[in-house]
Amino acid sequence: MSRLLIEGGQPLAGEVEISRAKNAVLPILAACLVTPEECEIRGVPLLRDVEVMISLIRTLGGKVEAQPDGDFSQSIRVSCRSLEPAELGDGLTRQMRSSIFIMGALLGRIGQVRLAHPGGCTIGHRPVNMHLEGLRCLGAEIEEEHGFIMAQAPGGLTGGKVHLDYPSVGATENVMLGAALARGVTTIHNAAKEPEIVDLQRFLRQLGVRVVGAGTGTIRIEGGGDLGGAVYTPIPDRIEAGTFAVLAAATGGRVRLYGAHPHHLEVVLAKLQVAGAQVSGRGSQLEIVGPRRPGPCDLKTQPYPGFPTDMQNQFLALLCRSTGISIVKETIFENRFKVADEFRRMGADVRVEDRLAIVRGVPRLTGATVDGDDLRGAAALVIAGLSAEGETVLESPEHLDRGYAGLMEKLDRLGASIRRDG
Ligand code: EPU
Repeated sequence: MSRLLIEGGQPLAGEVEISRAKNAVLPILAACLVTPEECEIRGVPLLRDVEVMISLIRTLGGKVEAQPDGDFSQSIRVSCRSLEPAELGDGLTRQMRSSIFIMGALLGRIGQVRLAHPGGCTIGHRPVNMHLEGLRCLGAEIEEEHGFIMAQAPGGLTGGKVHLDYPSVGATENVMLGAALARGVTTIHNAAKEPEIVDLQRFLRQLGVRVVGAGTGTIRIEGGGDLGGAVYTPIPDRIEAGTFAVLAAATGGRVRLYGAHPHHLEVVLAKLQVAGAQVSGRGSQLEIVGPRRPGPCDLKTQPYPGFPTDMQNQFLALLCRSTGISIVKETIFENRFKVADEFRRMGADVRVEDRLAIVRGVPRLTGATVDGDDLRGAAALVIAGLSAEGETVLESPEHLDRGYAGLMEKLDRLGASIRRDG
């Protein structure tokens, strides 16, 4: 069993190159299924979720070749000239919930898909009803039986009006992928506005799909044309950038981020300033200087452009050592306060009541053995460990491999005392 050994208490200082966004890369790789022509995606971070997506594409008959193109990234060529209606079993869909959003692409391309229900996960129930309802609006016939989702569109998908009950990122992407090959016009109302949706639109346009509106609540897609290939580099990872920014603030350090898009991080940077960090920068560079001890700060997670749920746990780690009381409200995933139990082992004073966490800052955290139950929870525990006194042992660090490319090397360059054992 592997674990991370973290020696805390040192301010981190130096530079970090931000990787391309996991949550942009995954739907873009799935989008390669909609065209028979070759696509090349550059700067793809070396992550386990990316490997799972590659396995999915290969299982369906797509050809995938990967070549290193950076310290922690690869260029991936995907060619899906012909696809097979293979069954996607539990082994793949349980490893990565995002497997669900290849449904739209496959229904559009081969008119059928059969995949194991991805089920819930540690951060919440994560139902897929909106994905299914959205694709039904494009004419898909969908049944759920024996743990499988079976969908077909024998005569192909047709454009339609989709009204999402909530601006779900994955459901918006899934419907965009289905609509890319559907005959006629699809409109998605109450669409998610995340930067990753805008990036998917940009990629689909390069393939030749006529799509407008991403980044607003209404997306319009005119599907059905012949699609080509593309060479594409996805946007930088705003959650990785945010995680390093919080790390700088929590350790009282000075960290410069390269290759970030600061306008995707506005609310995160604003909250860091409330907590006493100095934030400056120009273009794609950002410098964060942490306070000796952070101040309190209230926050509430919301869909973009609100405060991202994927940054909530990292902020909680920061606020554990603040000079006052902070109230954090999680509105998106019901189990995203599980990490609070681990913070308490480190001496934090965090009380969780349903969707609220009340954090009473303490002067110091102390190292302990903790378990990161999911990707962002584990990242938050790395932050807590690096800002605590003494040694923290993080069990199950493999969650970090799903979303932070080259994390150990990047932390090492910032002077962190951290090593992986096993
Ligand atoms: N929801 C439903 N029904 C659906 C779909 C979603 O009720 O059919 C609910 C969810 O249970 C949740 C809310 O809607 O309460 C929002 O979920 P959403 O669909 O927006 O999330 P997602 O697409 O499953 C993506 C990211 C997550 C990120 C969320 C929210 C990817 C691959 N994943 O998930 O990223 O937390 O959006 O921003 O893009 C992570 O990177 O650690 C991560 C979990």
